[in-house]
Amino acid sequence: VRLQPLPASLSPAISPIPGAFQDSGKAAGLGESHVGDCGRPEPSARIVGGSDAQPGRWPWQVSLHQNGGHICGGSLIAPSWVLSAAHCFVTNGTLEPATEWSVLLGVHSQDGPLDGAHVRAVAAVLVPDNYSSVELGADLALLRLASPARLGPAVRPVCLPRASHRFAPGAACWATGWGDIQEADRLPLPWVLQEVELRLLGEATCRCLYSRPGPFNLTFQLLPGMLCAGYPEGRRDTCQGDSGGPLVCEEGGRWFQAGITSFGFGCGRRNRPGVFTAVAPYEAWIREQVIGSEPGPAFPTQSWEPQAGPWEPRDENCTVALPECGIAPRPGAWPWEARVMVPGSRPCHGALVSESWVLAPASCFLDWRVLLPSRPRAELVARLVPHENASWDDASDLALLQLLAPVNLSTAPRPVCLPHPEHYFLPRSRCRLALWGRGEPAPGPNAQLEAELLSGWWCHCLYGRQGASVPPPGDPPLALCPAYQEEEEEAGRCWNYSHRSLLCQEEGTWFLAGISDLSSGCLRPRVFYPLQTHGPWISHVTRGAYLEDQLTWDWGPEGEETETQTCPPPTEHGACGLRPEPAVMGVLWPWLVEVHVAGDRVCTGILVAPGWVLAATHCVLRPGSTTVPYIEVYLGRAGVSPLPQGHQVSRLVIGIRLPRHLGLRPPLALLELSSRVEPSPSALPICLHPGGIPLGASCWVLGWKDPQDRVPVAAAVSILMPRLCHCLYQGVLPPGTLCVLYLEGQEDRCEVTSAPPLLCQTEGGSWVLVGMAVRGSRELFAAIGPEEAWISQIVGEAHFLPPSGYPHWPPEGSDLCPPDMARASGSPQAALFLLLLTPLLQA
Ligand code: ARG
Repeated sequence: VRLQPLPASLSPAISPIPGAFQDSGKAAGLGESHVGDCGRPEPSARIVGGSDAQPGRWPWQVSLHQNGGHICGGSLIAPSWVLSAAHCFVTNGTLEPATEWSVLLGVHSQDGPLDGAHVRAVAAVLVPDNYSSVELGADLALLRLASPARLGPAVRPVCLPRASHRFAPGAACWATGWGDIQEADRLPLPWVLQEVELRLLGEATCRCLYSRPGPFNLTFQLLPGMLCAGYPEGRRDTCQGDSGGPLVCEEGGRWFQAGITSFGFGCGRRNRPGVFTAVAPYEAWIREQVIGSEPGPAFPTQSWEPQAGPWEPRDENCTVALPECGIAPRPGAWPWEARVMVPGSRPCHGALVSESWVLAPASCFLDWRVLLPSRPRAELVARLVPHENASWDDASDLALLQLLAPVNLSTAPRPVCLPHPEHYFLPRSRCRLALWGRGEPAPGPNAQLEAELLSGWWCHCLYGRQGASVPPPGDPPLALCPAYQEEEEEAGRCWNYSHRSLLCQEEGTWFLAGISDLSSGCLRPRVFYPLQTHGPWISHVTRGAYLEDQLTWDWGPEGEETETQTCPPPTEHGACGLRPEPAVMGVLWPWLVEVHVAGDRVCTGILVAPGWVLAATHCVLRPGSTTVPYIEVYLGRAGVSPLPQGHQVSRLVIGIRLPRHLGLRPPLALLELSSRVEPSPSALPICLHPGGIPLGASCWVLGWKDPQDRVPVAAAVSILMPRLCHCLYQGVLPPGTLCVLYLEGQEDRCEVTSAPPLLCQTEGGSWVLVGMAVRGSRELFAAIGPEEAWISQIVGEAHFLPPSGYPHWPPEGSDLCPPDMARASGSPQAALFLLLLTPLLQA
């Protein structure tokens, strides 16, 4: 059962049993007389981690069918009574009609002819009044059969414990059922009843295990009337479809039903044992319901003083199980590293995911041997299971190889951990890119590249469909983007051919998080396909790969923002203006370019497309000069402090393009770079503003406070309405000039010699370039909008946003200015004050 709360208002839809009191004159006399008949199977190992039961070993096990299909288990406790779980019968707070159900008795395999089995209709379903939802307890139900079961070797009742009965913590008990054999993995044909040995866990131990928050900080309270059974390390458990079935313990040659399968968190997960409804506390309720029916259930007295099993861990400081996967003995050692040896070809890199299974790209294989660390020779491969979509879908380029003989897991080899589908790798997670498939080791000392996960929003919006909503934490992501230090590729050569796997660390444990997408071409970082979507397939095939719960979920104060985010509206040429969060190696502004002119001056420039930078003409060209100076540009820099290799990109400028302007020198220049700068978290083009004033956007002048150290600063400004701007600087402004008002004090202002740009952040979250500073001014900017035609003609990939009805430029020679405005032009604050007063004066 998923922890799905049901409405708490369950009205007791339990009808009185017709004829219950007429059967016989005596209402009491239950129990003792039938004691001899219960809990003794005729003398003659899914369930998760279990095995096929012997026919007749669990003769009280029944299967509850609805619409011809198995839904839940149950146990025969008297010829006309079956015990099961309330949640099997209650949907959205209402009890389903008894007539929909039938009970199969004496069944072993549910496929084919049911020899010796028989079916009974259900006359009534009884659920305790206080049952509302599984996690609140009282999850039990009694079914009264329309006619008594035919008892025989394959059909016998189990014994029930009295309220005073004590089951010893640590006792070895058995759970049975036809439920899933792993999460979301059905019991395969021929549907043979499964059994699994589970240890009773003391209340304190179970509480302690469950008190550790699971993924997404979920915790759960063990309540009185519940009982846990299983193992801290998980791997053996009941699962979906086992509910209602019995957990039985043998005492003095009789089997007593200690629990009813109720729920759990996933199935077989570490530190998440199965939760059962304890039967003993419900003695009185059960007796009350079956009153008058003869023979009733048997409640034999406990013959035996329970003693804590030797196995029970100390309750006070419970020992939680630690992951058995993903631990690297020392930094950089990959004990799950598996090399698939293909004769006549480079080895193919994969990862050990369990005792017997290796995961590797399907594209690797022709002929196979597997090398594992600390093993004398290559392992032989018994079976290769390619993913069904392996040949046409890069995201499924996976195969599982089963080793001929399982290896002993130790320090090495050791399997890597795999994520469950709902795993949410937090932005900023420490990750590594490891060899995968026929990858070549990265140049340099480390074969593994260090990486840091970028926000899901950035990754999704950069690569995914724009305008789409970003999968929230808990939904499988479509892509994972790690930022990593990559050697700058030689011009024109992308890092195309080496496959990589992405491993991310949580609390010292490594998860295989993704595999690289070869088709993302030159984009950096390359997008990784999340492996978590393949978890069900991997566990289905391997029956025992180490799927681990998320170990880190504390995503900090801003983290929750990731929920329900959408990508900014699309531009024709892909993503622009997306600022990666967290800042990649300190690069806050991936489009900010240092333009080094002839070795002496440094101007700000803005990357507008992979091969083009926009800058202020006056900054890159000496007044009066027309010869192109020697210009170098640097991207991905956060001040002069050196950035790690691979985040800095430099290019030569091979041409300067100016629009044809009559008379005056045009304010904006396009610099053509010697080669493209492929988009990456530290070098990404900005969007371009189509014109008008971006109303409601927050705008900033971005530049350096000091041209020497060039640490980027952003000063918040508001762009003045065209009328105010026009009036303020009447007669002196070239058309298409924007003026701004600084919102904060003077401290954040950029120096002016480098001609800083004016940017705004749109509502969608992307950043747009609105203007470049006019020579020598902090307040005046040459607008980008009026140059759209020219820019788009030269730079095909320029990301102009669609026009959106912004107010346009004031008509030339507009004469509506208040008389004092021009004089106030030295002080925009004074001017603004005047303008704000103007409407009042006119009213
Ligand atoms: N409630 C589930 C059912 O309806 C049984 C879940 C048991 N889960 C567990 N992890 N023990 O079949």
